[in-house]
Amino acid sequence: MAGRSRTRLLFTLATPPLLVGYGTHVWLDSLEARYPPIAPDRSSTELLQTPANPVTQHVPHIDIYAARIRLRDLQARSNNPTEKPTKQDLNVAWAQSLLNCSALRFESKVVGLFAKGRFDPGDLGTTPAAFSPDPETGAPRELVNGAMAVLRPPVGDEPLLVKWAVPDAPRRFFEVIARWGYPWRLMTGGRHEMSVEGPFDGEGDEESLGPFVEVRFASAHTYEIVPEEGALSQQKTIPKWAARLHRGYARFLLDTTVKELVEGTK
Ligand SMILES: *[C@@H]1O[C@H](CO)[C@@H](O)[C@H](O)[C@H]1NC(C)=O
Repeated sequence: MAGRSRTRLLFTLATPPLLVGYGTHVWLDSLEARYPPIAPDRSSTELLQTPANPVTQHVPHIDIYAARIRLRDLQARSNNPTEKPTKQDLNVAWAQSLLNCSALRFESKVVGLFAKGRFDPGDLGTTPAAFSPDPETGAPRELVNGAMAVLRPPVGDEPLLVKWAVPDAPRRFFEVIARWGYPWRLMTGGRHEMSVEGPFDGEGDEESLGPFVEVRFASAHTYEIVPEEGALSQQKTIPKWAARLHRGYARFLLDTTVKELVEGTK
């Protein structure tokens, strides 16, 4: 259990500082311009937006970004590049592409080094079993060397939903100092959803390039409700700059995956 907590802590806390190396405003600005946020109600499932315990937790941050790519760029990475892919085929192919993109593979290796002593990416959902539960125990599949767990496999029309968690100790520490007046505190954890919309035909000049799909990456952060902090809009969260880095990282993963998919079929 200790190993897993350390993995989660590392995943949650180490990601934004690692980004500072990249993190110029210019770079964030350009990602923000290319991937504006899209509205959660039309582009994510209710389970992404719902905290595990709606009485004691809330979800103040939901961020969803999307890109349009050619259907064939996505299908080229699918195990089963049939003429007429189902929604499930597309959702699986997109989730596997995103989790296996070079940036997340690298991050998963770093997590593996700390959690398991091996610089190995581990399970990124790309085995034949994909996102199904552990065949022996029936437990949800763990991905990224234990930093993420599958909450809902991509089945039928529903896309993959994964969760990650901050260990209780650091979260409680920030809850205590927030009570003393510190302006910020940590989330309980978060969820990611990876979904595909379409295919759509290209229009005008792009007709011959189509069909296209919209690929999306969604993040939601769950926080404990602290009654002393008052209304939900008053509840403390991570600082704005840290939230911006988290969103920048989500956009960076989407951007990296899209580029790798498009380059793969040149
Ligand atoms: C995952 O990424 C690695 C390294 O880029 C690649 O060799 C492998 O084929 C990818 N796996 C899948 C299933 O896409």
